[in-house]
Amino acid sequence: MIVQIPKLLNAAQLTHFRDRLATADWTDGRVSAGHQGAAVKRNRQLPEESPIARELGDIVVAALERNPTFISSVLPNRVYPPMFNRYDDGMAFGLHIDNAVRMLPRGGDKLRTDVSATLFLEDPANYDGGELQIEDSYGAHAIKLPAGDLVVYPAGSRHCVTPVTRGVRTACFFWAQSLVRDDAQRALLFDLDCAVQKLNQAQADAAARLQLTGCYHNLLRMWSQP
Ligand code: NI
Repeated sequence: MIVQIPKLLNAAQLTHFRDRLATADWTDGRVSAGHQGAAVKRNRQLPEESPIARELGDIVVAALERNPTFISSVLPNRVYPPMFNRYDDGMAFGLHIDNAVRMLPRGGDKLRTDVSATLFLEDPANYDGGELQIEDSYGAHAIKLPAGDLVVYPAGSRHCVTPVTRGVRTACFFWAQSLVRDDAQRALLFDLDCAVQKLNQAQADAAARLQLTGCYHNLLRMWSQP
């Protein structure tokens, strides 16, 4: 399931991000890639422990915690500290699948990557190319969103960033371990939750809504893993 979440960050936050990232020291993006990814990765990113990455990453995590669509579609258990990358003219990231398990930078614990996420930070009018292409059973989907918008997708899907041919594409990216590791189960729960929310807004039959809400929580109880 690919879910687009508009306006995770507001205009003031985006201005702050641009100002901070303009002063950052960018390094070769291959430092965080697995063996398979490193061969096709051509971009730059902020060192994970750089003060700017941590400061901006905390703002992103706070925004995620307040976002009902992120919570409902990802059912996050843990979120990897957000990272930041930039693609200058000619840079790209070829087809790859993200590593299944990552060591958390603080504390040495492990995180299973169930969901991958990209938060777009640059106005699409300012660069050409740089689309996030995600493959699923229905084909390839090219995604290029307004600054501040987030896309989440199954971490097990093949994806790439097409070459930037003008301007600079900056983005934030991270992974989440979900309470529900299976994408199809997560998609069903998200659908059910969206439907229940609509029925609540319409003040539909209360007993039926109670039944459906019960189904939601009992499915989540059945499928979730701590
Ligand atoms: Ni990737």
